[in-house]
Amino acid sequence: MAKVFIIGANGFVGGHLIKEYIDNGYEVIAGDLSDEFRYSFPATYEKVNILDKENLKSILEKYEPDYLINLAAISSVGLSWKIPDETIKVNAIGTINILDAIKEIVPKCKSLFVGSSEEYIQKDRPLKEDDALEANNPYGISKITAENLARMYANSYGLSIVCTRSFNHTGIRTSR
Ligand SMILES: NC(=O)c1ccc[n+]([C@@H]2O[C@H](COP(=O)([O-])OP(=O)(O)OC[C@H]3O[C@@H](n4cnc5c(N)ncnc54)[C@H](O)[C@@H]3O)[C@@H](O)[C@H]2O)c1
Repeated sequence: MAKVFIIGANGFVGGHLIKEYIDNGYEVIAGDLSDEFRYSFPATYEKVNILDKENLKSILEKYEPDYLINLAAISSVGLSWKIPDETIKVNAIGTINILDAIKEIVPKCKSLFVGSSEEYIQKDRPLKEDDALEANNPYGISKITAENLARMYANSYGLSIVCTRSFNHTGIRTSR
């Protein structure tokens, strides 16, 4: 059974994505900051802080996942204005820690890093994928940085990485 490690699992998206993976026959290892898994899905839960590379490495050594999805982030533009330093730290440095841990422990693991439409600036027309990334808030800039780091690790070390620039989504359990 293929194994997927989902970080930021206690968040809004985690609750939906984990169910999707379980329903499709994957073994899920869910990780987040708190002691307890927020959801009741049949997944293994590990407390993890993406600012702690040794913590990340030990989890990758223990489970050797085939896939890793990073949802962990300071995920609000408004909050990012209040704590810009923490936003850059979690969203960018946290991304380097994950990339480094993958490179060292499970270099064949395929990973997905969730970026944001906030990497663009608003236009008076629908955005195009190849529009310039000109974010004008700390959250958007942190996500551009994370995406650039992921590209660098893919190009320099041959890691298999997908990045998204997701637009806002909503549904049950959203906090926004
Ligand atoms: N929800 C949306 O509409 C939307 C849109 C575009 C992009 N995104 C991105 O998708 C991802 C998931 O979004 P969400 O709405 O579920 O966010 P969320 O805020 O609900 O969940 C984020 C999770 O990350 C965890 N986290 C924060 N810092 C951490 C750390 N240092 N180590 C480990 N875990 C940590 C939090 O505890 C939380 O459970 C985020 O990266 C977000 O930026 C979301």
